[in-house]
Amino acid sequence: MAQSQEDYDYLFKIVLIGDSAVGKSNLLSRFAKNEFSLETKPTLGVEFACRTIVADNKLIKAQIWDTAGQERYKAITSAYYRGAVGALLVYDITRMASFESVGRWLSELKDHASQDLVVMLVGNKTDLHNLRAVSTQMAKEFADAHKIHFTETSALDNKNVESSFQQLIDNIYQVLQKKAVNNSDSSTKDQLSVDYKLKANQKDKTLGKKDDTCCN
Ligand code: GTP
Ligand code: MG
Repeated sequence: MAQSQEDYDYLFKIVLIGDSAVGKSNLLSRFAKNEFSLETKPTLGVEFACRTIVADNKLIKAQIWDTAGQERYKAITSAYYRGAVGALLVYDITRMASFESVGRWLSELKDHASQDLVVMLVGNKTDLHNLRAVSTQMAKEFADAHKIHFTETSALDNKNVESSFQQLIDNIYQVLQKKAVNNSDSSTKDQLSVDYKLKANQKDKTLGKKDDTCCN
């Protein structure tokens, strides 16, 4: 029987951002469907996929949005970020330019996303270690300076992909818990959990193809 929309405790909207060809879509397909493609197929418009995982004994449905890194769809920017509670900011460890863009992506988040948004910086393509141009240490220092999380992955080798998403979701969950503690009144807590469902649920019908395998 198909799962109903309510078969989860929380729905988290997570956005993938970063320059073109850093591997955003492959990280998503690896996480959502355990698929990888060597072909270069730039994303057009917005797509999303979902996966439900467990954090702190709660079922959390991650609804992950993916868009093109290069073309700037200015008209959809605010809709893309609206309601997002987490972001994976991806660069390619073999391309310094993609790391140099990270600051620009962070400003875009600052301009368009919620202040509570949890950001994870992801250096992808660690399988290409002979071509590495961005050192782990440099990226780690950058992440520490900007108080964001950091990890390195290979979508091709399926290395660290699962744990990066899991870590991001755990961190979002902690932010949610902290908010609940700060608002210790129980009615506020209930309201908060509703907010986290609704916030992530605000799908703009003008956007995106819905993946058949997910998101109902
Ligand atoms: P846009 O949609 O244009 O923004 O690009 P993207 O960031 O979604 O990149 P995409 O996932 O399409 O990957 C771009 C290219 O990098 C493809 O040829 C992938 O096969 C390749 N690629 C993605 N991840 C990895 C990886 O971990 N290792 C290696 N070696 N190649 C990868
Ligand atoms: Mg893509």
